[in-house]
Amino acid sequence: MKLNVATHNAHKLREIGEILPGFEIASEDPDVEETAPDFAGNALIKVRAVAAHHQGEWSMADDSGLEVRALGGAPGVRSARYAGEPCSTPANNALLLKNLEGVEDRAARFTCAIALVDPEGREHVVTGHCPGRIAHEPSGDAGFGYDPLFIPDGYDKSFAVLGEVEKNKISHRGRALAAARALMLA
Ligand code: IMP
Repeated sequence: MKLNVATHNAHKLREIGEILPGFEIASEDPDVEETAPDFAGNALIKVRAVAAHHQGEWSMADDSGLEVRALGGAPGVRSARYAGEPCSTPANNALLLKNLEGVEDRAARFTCAIALVDPEGREHVVTGHCPGRIAHEPSGDAGFGYDPLFIPDGYDKSFAVLGEVEKNKISHRGRALAAARALMLA
């Protein structure tokens, strides 16, 4: 069965391929603006753009980010461009640490929303969370984005130290993909 995925991100495509081995995966850039106030809304904007010209097939889009409790849920949907444009991971991580200077409550979570359009044209949204906390300094060099600063609950090492295999077992994206898989194979 064909699955059209609204991303060119090689890391995401590999993870989707691993969890959905029976699907023929095609990747496509939806080229739309992510203007929704939440992850599910942005995932829906992207999947609709792709599904519009793939009727009768599955289409999928995701949107994800980091929510920090003491910052009222920021950076949230602005995770990629927290420190402004152009997107810079070192600048985002530095700003996050600066905004949490002297803050004791380090609780945070990653969220991933996956929107799907099924072959009959129906829309579905599934969500995965990974709760944890923000470290006081970065560690590790695996992964991407906020991984060097994020320590998942039950661990004392950052995602960037834990590495991809361990991360995928518990990550927000791994959990959302598992829910998507259950929905698609039901
Ligand atoms: P997007 O869903 O690919 O647009 O991700 C938005 C942003 O959220 C990324 O640019 C990262 O800053 C952050 N993010 C999402 N998932 C992760 C993750 O697994 N690790 C670290 N940062 C992430």
